[in-house]
Amino acid sequence: MRRPLVAGNWKMNLDLPRGRDLIETIRSGLETLDVRERVEVAVCPPEIYLFPTAAAISGTAIRLGAQNVYHEPSGAFTGEVSAEMIAETGARYVIIGHSERRHTIGHHEDDRMIHLKVRAARRAGLTPILCVGETLDERKAGQTFDVLTFQLAAGLVGLAFKSGSDLVIAYEPVWAIGTGQNATSAQAQEAHAHLRAGLREKFGRLADEVRILYGGSVKPDNAEEIFGQPDVDGGLIGGASLKADSFLGIIRAALAKAG
Ligand code: PGA
Repeated sequence: MRRPLVAGNWKMNLDLPRGRDLIETIRSGLETLDVRERVEVAVCPPEIYLFPTAAAISGTAIRLGAQNVYHEPSGAFTGEVSAEMIAETGARYVIIGHSERRHTIGHHEDDRMIHLKVRAARRAGLTPILCVGETLDERKAGQTFDVLTFQLAAGLVGLAFKSGSDLVIAYEPVWAIGTGQNATSAQAQEAHAHLRAGLREKFGRLADEVRILYGGSVKPDNAEEIFGQPDVDGGLIGGASLKADSFLGIIRAALAKAG
């Protein structure tokens, strides 16, 4: 049984006091829910807030993740942060290949770079949350499965994992991110099943232990239906992770899945 993961991707939002307030409200909200062994909860603040966020979540069940990493361990790479540095903050997860890094932010990361980042995360003992997903044009052209197959294979080429819990995949259709237009539960399930089949081809039975998150306009009122799909193991949450009540509502939906 895969334990659902609900990870909040704060993106470049919230200042330090607001981030701390949010953690505090989530922490007290979680006390009223019986989450500890049933659902895993993580927050991914901007990199500069990793250390203070680690302090704020200390003693709670909330885990820490970073939003990006550079693939080299050290060197003359002005402005970049290595996986080893991220690991020092106490982070467990790192988001890699998010669509905003693939398509929106200046340098447009390609699959080779994303692959090197997944490798770097493993080198430092971090669990990558590898994001894959098609654009609207690709979906309209009937290329969704091809894009997912390629991005998954390219991201993971040559890698082996001892445990399925050392890898998380996030299916994030680009057209659903920050748009308010979520994938239907059927669209999500079909994509997740396709990704799991790809993982099975590569890793055999380990694929059944890998969590595949859905991301893209998840809210409390659509989370339960999406998470209810057999291959959806939680969510990577953007906008709705910035308010405690909506984030907690989504965690509640994951609890319903966990049973
Ligand atoms: P959203 O973002 O929930 O605001 O659509 C999801 C993500 O980018 O991970």
